[in-house]
Amino acid sequence: CSYLKEKTRAEICETLCNGLARQEYRGYDSAGFVVDGDKPGEVFYFKEVGKVAGLRKKVAESTVDTQKAFITQCSIAHTRWATHGAPSTKNCHPVRSDPTSEFCLVHNGIVTNAAELRLVLQKRGYKFETDTDTEAVAILTKYVYDSQPEKRMSFTELVRTVLKELQGSFAFVFKSSHYPNELVTARRGSPLLIGVKTDKKLKVDFVDVEFAGAEADTQASQAITSPTSPSTLLAPPVPGSSSKLYRTQSRAFMSEDGIPQPIEFFVASDAAAIVEHTKRVLYLEDDDIAHIAEGELHIHRLRSKDEGAQTPSQMATTRSIETLEIEIAEIMKGKFDHFMQKEIYEQPESVVNTMRGRVNFDRHEITLGGLKAYLPIIRRGRRIVFCACGTSYHSAIATRAIFEELTEIPVSVELASDFLDRKTPIFRDDVCVFVSQSGETADTILALRYCMDRGALCVGVVNTVGSTISRETHCGIHINAGPEVGVASTKAYTSQYIALLMMALQLSEDRISLLERRNQIIDGLHALPGQIKKVLDNDKNLRGLAKNVLANSRSLLLMGRGYQYATCLEGALKIKEISYMHSEGILAGELKHGPLALIDENMPVIIIMTRDSLYPKVQSAFAQITARKAQPIVLCNDDDDSIPENAKTLRVPKTVDCLQGLLNVIPLQLLSYHLAIQNGFDVDFPRNLAKSVTTE
Ligand code: G6P
Repeated sequence: CSYLKEKTRAEICETLCNGLARQEYRGYDSAGFVVDGDKPGEVFYFKEVGKVAGLRKKVAESTVDTQKAFITQCSIAHTRWATHGAPSTKNCHPVRSDPTSEFCLVHNGIVTNAAELRLVLQKRGYKFETDTDTEAVAILTKYVYDSQPEKRMSFTELVRTVLKELQGSFAFVFKSSHYPNELVTARRGSPLLIGVKTDKKLKVDFVDVEFAGAEADTQASQAITSPTSPSTLLAPPVPGSSSKLYRTQSRAFMSEDGIPQPIEFFVASDAAAIVEHTKRVLYLEDDDIAHIAEGELHIHRLRSKDEGAQTPSQMATTRSIETLEIEIAEIMKGKFDHFMQKEIYEQPESVVNTMRGRVNFDRHEITLGGLKAYLPIIRRGRRIVFCACGTSYHSAIATRAIFEELTEIPVSVELASDFLDRKTPIFRDDVCVFVSQSGETADTILALRYCMDRGALCVGVVNTVGSTISRETHCGIHINAGPEVGVASTKAYTSQYIALLMMALQLSEDRISLLERRNQIIDGLHALPGQIKKVLDNDKNLRGLAKNVLANSRSLLLMGRGYQYATCLEGALKIKEISYMHSEGILAGELKHGPLALIDENMPVIIIMTRDSLYPKVQSAFAQITARKAQPIVLCNDDDDSIPENAKTLRVPKTVDCLQGLLNVIPLQLLSYHLAIQNGFDVDFPRNLAKSVTTE
């Protein structure tokens, strides 16, 4: 949305396509955008199935006047991960209310009552042209607009009325021919942020929120007295209206002499999409509705607490403008062919970034600033519950044993969806730890809110600063792995693993009996980056293994136990995610209870036999499968000479038992990468998957 800033249509299209490309990992079934047309009220759509590259081509081939300039304009764009309706040009966003596009919008999330709304609207004569849930929202907006006799509703009020009818989750951006050069955007359950770009320095770094309903009075009095928020009541309440108006600090976007300044606003799901334009962003909270017009940004509440608004953070009276720390280079591929490859190779540095300023290797001390004030409560906790999905879940499994060993607090590890399905009992003295790379995974967020409601202490272990989980938890650790773009998570895993380990180390800092063990682990952490580099040096062998041994296999089993069970699960997940080969992580202790039936001379198996206290037991698993003619590939330490000579080996340096998984997982990440490349698959964009799963 640009104001008093001249832009050609070509520049606008370029900005939209670049922004989409940077968010493409969130979904890549189809992409599209809408820009202003040549006449007032007219709009042009560009839509294409598949990735943004196709959309760019479409723009390049189009006959529209790309040099037409706009002083002020609003455009919206979307890259889709299909939930309702197959990926097709028809179902691609932006979605419109009618052929003249009185309203058009983009949507992330799922509207769960869309089918009912569709029926009601169809009965009233409205025609649908897509299979999406989003279209019901577009048409409902037109219906509400058509139903008001004097058409006086502001764009915000109109959208607010519509959104009150919706169930499910969403982040929306609305555009309308009835409200030219205005955008309304709102979120519930899906992330949304607004970047602000002006040549002037921003005078204040927050935007006030307008509250509605019964909470307005309390919020107003808090806002007036709050040192950070000098809002004042602008006008007495409108009789009969539940909403009150407060002076908004968005005026700060004007220069001090009151002359409007050129300004641009960028609305996005992810900061990566906008960081090339501005580093100043504000994150919207659930139930925020923001209105952008005339170079101003106003934030309102969609519903008040009495109408079911959910979390305490939503009651804040301001949304502060924060400065992003990511650099554009961090979200570019650089010399690598794929983001996943780049991220695998970044691990020697990303693990250092996770530990930076937190581990004192000389004094063997850990300081996690984000947890400090809460350590006594965590230590008193009756149990620790880890809750996560996908790779993040595996990082919790990987560290569970060391957590229990060091803290002596019972730990349970939960898949967020199952945790919610079971309505797991949670109590005030539970400590619940939510692990998430994106901080936006819907199931993990719902699990967090579930635990919050039950009074548990909620800790976030998150990569994305400013994400929902990092904002809504009581305290936490940012893993500082840097932006992860590849859909298959790699460097986030190793950093989550280390973050959880550091948490266990800090919790056990006063336990004299563990001094030696803790020191040994901290020394191990010190040596880790160099050892990861050594593992990466083996890349060529792994490429050979993928090409010569495993390329045509239909299935691959990964077997291990103890600390390495998590490595097996994570390795198998990587392989199935991007190479589409069936793969299963098997606990070697369970071999006799089923998996052994799968073993014969044709079944490829990787067995993890790095040395730790369970080595003899894994040796016996090795014997059992070789007795059934399997020819396992052995992942072992580089100095292990007890592996039979004829066995294929993948060798890694030796480290402390509880850190070994950090090294062992890397050959499996590389192997999955090469298997995918070998088969010609799109490594960064595996079919049917998305990096950030913001729907249940
Ligand atoms: C998706 C991604 C995985 C990720 C999982 C959990 O499935 O493809 O790579 O591990 O979500 O995401 P989170 O952001 O919560 O770690």
